[in-house]
Amino acid sequence: MHVRPSVKEACEEQSVAVLYQDTEVAETYVQKRFAVSWSRLLHDMQVREINRVIQQHQPELVVEVAPGPARLTTEVRGVRRGILVEYSQEMLAQAQKRLQACGLADCWEIRHGNAFHLEEQRLQCDFLYTFRFIRHFFAEDRARLYRSLRMCLRPHGLLMFDVVNKTVRERLDAKQDSRPNGQLNVYDVTYLPEEFCREIQQHGFLLRSLCPVLRHFGLQSWISYRLDHRLGIWADRLVRLLERLPSSQPLEWIALCQKVE
Ligand SMILES: C[S@@+](CC[C@H](N)C(=O)[O-])C[C@H]1O[C@@H](n2cnc3c(N)ncnc32)[C@H](O)[C@@H]1O
Repeated sequence: MHVRPSVKEACEEQSVAVLYQDTEVAETYVQKRFAVSWSRLLHDMQVREINRVIQQHQPELVVEVAPGPARLTTEVRGVRRGILVEYSQEMLAQAQKRLQACGLADCWEIRHGNAFHLEEQRLQCDFLYTFRFIRHFFAEDRARLYRSLRMCLRPHGLLMFDVVNKTVRERLDAKQDSRPNGQLNVYDVTYLPEEFCREIQQHGFLLRSLCPVLRHFGLQSWISYRLDHRLGIWADRLVRLLERLPSSQPLEWIALCQKVE
């Protein structure tokens, strides 16, 4: 079950796409959203998980859908052949620039395309990842997306994406009734682990693993916002140290799913 948002948040194909067709949003995306210690840790953990799967499974073709400015892909290693599919021309321009700057432009083909119509791309890949994307849609659109993504995967192909923890998000929302400054007004679906497992199975995938990310978000975000500017690298280290302590309630998980025939 999903809850309809009370304010006018972007939550379906057109409204989500429009938010990112903006030069300022594209140019400032990484710098604005991944500037503090907790968000840098989240980014690093996503990169680490993508790199782990590539190293372990040695995919022939890797696809990233909705990469934005290639926040992740500039740090992904070991790709033999990669394709990025993104809808915003503004984001594509940034992705191109950033991949060129880090010498990876030759490994990645950049395509303009719609994630809801990936059949037009004629792809058959072994590993596909998409972050901060599927979560923005209501159930009907997520179902369309899963179908579209599934079509691009070879039998038993792997799909990785981020999943927001309902328990932690509800706790945060209860404390904070307005969106922090500078954040886009976009919906996030949240789950209990068993709800997520059911959803992914219904759409033809097996859940292989859920990797917890930001295990102590309350404290990690407090340190980031209050101490980053005072302690610099030490605040960053503290946030990373906390991640080593176990917890059953992380802010998010990184889900690794496998296509079932
Ligand atoms: C929140 S950003 C995420 C960017 C990147 N994946 C990340 O994790 O930082 C969402 C991205 O989805 C792209 N997008 C929105 N609708 C799309 C669609 N229908 N097909 C492909 N990309 C789309 C946007 O242009 C934007 O770059």
